[in-house]
Amino acid sequence: MGISLISAARYLPKGSLTNFDLEKMVETSDEWIQQRTGLISRTIAEDETVADMAIKAGVKCLENVTPEIKNKIKVLILTTVSYLQVVPHVAAKIVEPLGLNKDILAYDLNAGCTSFIYALNTIERFLIKPGDYALIVSSDKLSDYTDYTDRGTCILLGDGAAATLWEYSQETDYFSISQTITNPEVLCREGKYVQMNGAEIFKFAVSTLPGLIEEICTKGNVAIEDVDLFLLHQANARIIESVARKLKTDDEKFPVRYQNIGNTSSPSIPILMTQLIDENKLQNAKNIVLAGFGAGLSLGIVLLKGNGQYVVK
Ligand code: UT7
Repeated sequence: MGISLISAARYLPKGSLTNFDLEKMVETSDEWIQQRTGLISRTIAEDETVADMAIKAGVKCLENVTPEIKNKIKVLILTTVSYLQVVPHVAAKIVEPLGLNKDILAYDLNAGCTSFIYALNTIERFLIKPGDYALIVSSDKLSDYTDYTDRGTCILLGDGAAATLWEYSQETDYFSISQTITNPEVLCREGKYVQMNGAEIFKFAVSTLPGLIEEICTKGNVAIEDVDLFLLHQANARIIESVARKLKTDDEKFPVRYQNIGNTSSPSIPILMTQLIDENKLQNAKNIVLAGFGAGLSLGIVLLKGNGQYVVK
């Protein structure tokens, strides 16, 4: 038994920071950034908070959902790595604006850029019978923590949010692999800013993801060729291309859509899902692999197996 996606929406703030803007701030170039990351610009929130963006994505996601279904949402997980206030948690702030029942289990989850995958693993355990629903809202404002004098981080990071609503499904199956390696130095926030050894995380991702993707496909008895989409954390286009090459899989099945958004951390995979819905691609997928990796070090892979059915309703 598994889960199906029934609604999704994103919110991207209006502000933007282009490669040319960054050329004026740090020693870098549009050419270097495009070659090494594929990025052209990043979405930047100005006055909006993590909670504001979460509400905008959540409201849009629930817009066309019937009141009956809304009433049955039993858990809300808010993923974020960039919430300034900490207490109270963001999930509490958004329950009422989203019109959710107050008897909901609502809390924040932070597992770096793997947060969305771990949120999926968590709700999958809550969705146990027909009519069970869970909402994941992912929101990050990394610009609050970005050192715009550090070219190793500021060229990558952007702000945004996405919400996804899931239901228990008897047709689909769910498989997951999680890893946590204690290595806090590689990506952390000490003081005001995020510090990252980008090359180290790059190596970690490209060396571990292909093998684990093969492993999860074996576990779920799905051939790599039968996976329709591999939705990887949009951290760096070269990481995604490298994994696709190692798995000898068509680049088209490994979408990169962050060129004008940036690496948003926890919302990056659900934002990608909404972009693929707009392109009418996610609706036609019967087997989907999702993979997140980042601070911790953390890593999580999920296989949504449709058993001949679509995993998005
Ligand atoms: O989201 C969760 C976790 N984060 C990630 O997954 C990030 C993964 N890492 C990356 O995306 C990449 O490592 C970066 C984009 C951060 C850096 O790209 P890279 O290809 O790994 O560059 P590098 O750090 O290995 O540096 C290569 C060269 C160095 O110069 P030398 O020593 O070869 O002369 C750097 O000083 O590029 C230089 N460099 C830059 N040059 C121009 C590093 N950053 C820049 C820059 N502009 N922004």
